[in-house]
Amino acid sequence: MSDNIFESLTAKLKATGNFRTIPENRFGNGVLDFSANDYLGFGNITFRDMLVGHPELLNAPMTSSASRLLASTQSHYNDLERLLESIYGFGRRALLFNSGYHANVGMVSALGSLPGTLIVADKLVHASIIDGMKEIRNRIRFPHNNLDKLDEILAREADNYERKIVIVESVYSMDGDSPDLERLVSLKKKYPGTILYIDEAHAFGVLGSKGTGLTMQTHAPDEFDIVIATLGKAVGSYGAFAIMKEPVRNFFINKARSFIFSTSLPPQTVLWSKLMIERMLNASNERRQLRHNSEKLYMALQEIAPDRNRTVSHIGYLIIGDPSRAVGLSAKLREQGLIVLPIRTPTVPPGTERLRISLSSSHSDADIDKLISALKEWK
Ligand SMILES: Cc1ncc(COP(=O)(O)O)c(C=O)c1O
Repeated sequence: MSDNIFESLTAKLKATGNFRTIPENRFGNGVLDFSANDYLGFGNITFRDMLVGHPELLNAPMTSSASRLLASTQSHYNDLERLLESIYGFGRRALLFNSGYHANVGMVSALGSLPGTLIVADKLVHASIIDGMKEIRNRIRFPHNNLDKLDEILAREADNYERKIVIVESVYSMDGDSPDLERLVSLKKKYPGTILYIDEAHAFGVLGSKGTGLTMQTHAPDEFDIVIATLGKAVGSYGAFAIMKEPVRNFFINKARSFIFSTSLPPQTVLWSKLMIERMLNASNERRQLRHNSEKLYMALQEIAPDRNRTVSHIGYLIIGDPSRAVGLSAKLREQGLIVLPIRTPTVPPGTERLRISLSSSHSDADIDKLISALKEWK
């Protein structure tokens, strides 16, 4: 190929400190990983471990060979969806998607294409939601977690749109903080036609009763019209699901293009997800340990870099404010056997480049102490 646009783009990314490469294999003796979303330590559970007690794993096909709408084997999907429906209750239905990315892109773009619809999303929502909104003209972003501003927007637009779809995350992936969910419900009641769409990717497995997420600990979980979570983080599998009322589910089955036009998850993976979710519901010791780890990290980070927006969370951060410095710091930590990856633009806004610290219940006090002393040394 004679076109050198690729080389010049690469050079530009390198010059601004934003060039990304696939990191080397991270596992090895003494390496401590603070970069994965393995919040409950389920990431190390092997097929062999699960076979004991679950011989049915041997019989689940490795491929569905078709989109869900055409697949011949549906039982694994149905079993998992029924399990999720029994967990989330209120007569709501579950729908599996191939990943959180597929779920958000498919659902947000389908919703946004409805006439008379405005999408109002938090400034820091995940890229999959942003990609779902790309083709939608009627969209507004509100400042991160600023529900006063959201109130203003809804007041202004209330009569201009039949439907106002408010999109938030229950735990933000780069800051670890949460919006006030009860207030979101009262805003929904204040402005008829408001639909609440919430991504629980980083809460599912970790927070709420038995790890079912933050909406489930509110006074009215069913006021959240669409709840999505990925299976690729705390529960140690792959895929995603959404919870909603039956007519909304039917709408997505017919209109979410990422659901319709992609081979569905391997039944093997779906069965694995079901087994891992069952395990997750009983993982209260892991959740307790993770909370302990989160408090320990919070206290240390507040000492290193006090920040009034920081919350006690399994997702910690240290703002560096410069992409090259963030990369350099991450490399220094790597030399000490600590995997803490730099997060740069466009994942976070320019000037807020950071190290993202992802905790797991499998981290011990000594692991966290090692990280803290390294951060204190290099910051
Ligand atoms: C908030 C949020 N939503 C969706 C996704 C995408 O989920 P998945 O990795 O299953 O595609 C992520 C993952 O990075 C996320 O952080």
